[in-house]
Amino acid sequence: MTDTATEFPPVPDLAWSADLLSGDARMDDTHEAFVARLAELRATPPEQQLPLYRALIDHTVEHFAQEDRWMVATGFAADNCHASQHQSVLETMRAVDTHFQQGDREIITRMAEALAEWFPQHARTMDAGLALHMQSVGFDSRTETLADPSRVRPATMSGCGSVSCS
Ligand SMILES: [Fe+2]
Ligand SMILES: [Fe+2]
Repeated sequence: MTDTATEFPPVPDLAWSADLLSGDARMDDTHEAFVARLAELRATPPEQQLPLYRALIDHTVEHFAQEDRWMVATGFAADNCHASQHQSVLETMRAVDTHFQQGDREIITRMAEALAEWFPQHARTMDAGLALHMQSVGFDSRTETLADPSRVRPATMSGCGSVSCS
C-alpha cells in the first residue's frame, strides 16, 4: 500500500450477484465471467498482473463486440452512445497496458478499481436496457436471430443501444 492509497476510500470488491442480472442469460454469462476475471486481477500483485490484464482486454473485446452486434441486429445505428462507451473503455484499457510497460506499476490496479466502479452502472443501465429492447423485438441472443425480422428496421435507432437512456 502506498500513502496515496489511504487518501481515498478503497473501491470494494465487485462480486457477481443477482442485482447485476440484465435479463438476458447469454449477456449475464459474459458479465459473470468479466466480474470473475476482474476479481482475479484485483487479487494479483502488480508484477504478475500483465497476462491477466491482457486476457481481460481480450475478453472485453469479445464482450463488447457481442453487444455491439446485437444492437445493430435489433435496429440501432452502429455509432450509438452505448457502442461509443464500449469503444472508449477499450481505448483506455489499451492505453493502460502501454503505461504499465513504460513503468507505471500501479496503473493496472487503478484501472481495475475504475472498472469495478464502472461496470455495475453500465450493466444496470445500458446493458439492462439493451436486454429489455432485445426481448421487446423478439431477438434471441443465443442464436442471434429475430423471431420476426419485419419488426426491426436496420439502423433506425440512434439513442443509446438501449431503451432507457438517451
Ligand atoms: Fe456488457
Ligand atoms: Fe455494454
